[in-house]
Amino acid sequence: MQKVKKAVFPVAGLGTRFLPATKASPKEMLPIVDKPLIQYAVEEAMDAGITDIIFISSRTKRTVEDHFDKAYELETELVARNKLRVLEAVQSIRPAGVNFIYIRQAEALGLGHAVLCAQPVVGDEPFAVLLADDLLDGQPAVMKQMVDQYNYYQCSVLGVQQVPREDTAAYGIVDASAMADRVSRVNAIVEKPKPEDAPSTLGVVGRYILTPRIFHHIQHLKPGAGGELQLTDAIAALLREQQVLAYAYDGIRYDCGSKLGYLQATVEYALKHGEVGEAFGAYLRAKIC
Ligand code: G1P
Repeated sequence: MQKVKKAVFPVAGLGTRFLPATKASPKEMLPIVDKPLIQYAVEEAMDAGITDIIFISSRTKRTVEDHFDKAYELETELVARNKLRVLEAVQSIRPAGVNFIYIRQAEALGLGHAVLCAQPVVGDEPFAVLLADDLLDGQPAVMKQMVDQYNYYQCSVLGVQQVPREDTAAYGIVDASAMADRVSRVNAIVEKPKPEDAPSTLGVVGRYILTPRIFHHIQHLKPGAGGELQLTDAIAALLREQQVLAYAYDGIRYDCGSKLGYLQATVEYALKHGEVGEAFGAYLRAKIC
């Protein structure tokens, strides 16, 4: 049995919804309290036993690469100032035994294209895809829950949740038949359908485990919704030859691609933060009453 050891992080998007904050700095580097979004997603993958972190990056995303690189000057300076707690926080970003790999996506042709850029590194193995602007708070980590499902069923697994019908045009939407607790078999999948056309209200969130056969289907894609090469369309083709499961994860999703979701995540993570949680809670209570 092949294990899921590799995860792909597409980080080449423009982040237009957060302009001007994302003019010179990638949206994946927006912090939730004191960690950038991308770090939460990478930690979730590492919690699932993933050891190869593959970023699909672009020329404007250098800071993502730097964030996961060693910072000699900073670390030396922190040692000199005896700031050992922060030093540990900085060093823990890249634990031993984890590889960070960067691939440049020269043109933003869509999520399907971004995933295809990882093929030379992923090869013939199952792999995960994580979209960092979906921040998933789960215990165990949502990707770990999905890897467990993959290990059991040995097929592609999509993270899903119920979404309001008026929002279906923001998601890949699946038509699925219940199979087991939290698990259903995907019969069809469509990218960003209008509410009246959506086959259901079960939306795909930014978590996927895919078999390598997906690359074949991405290679044969024609531009789909928004004129982009859509991963969803490749999954629709994959479905015709392999079982694909939808997994209703146990956890809370914050849509940090939207300002409201980002603010909600900030409040929730601030409230449970070891250093500022208590004081922030007191501040909020005083503010609301
Ligand atoms: C992407 C996918 C979509 C999925 C969504 C989850 O869309 O194309 O199928 O439901 O992520 O966040 P995007 O949000 O990049 O437009």
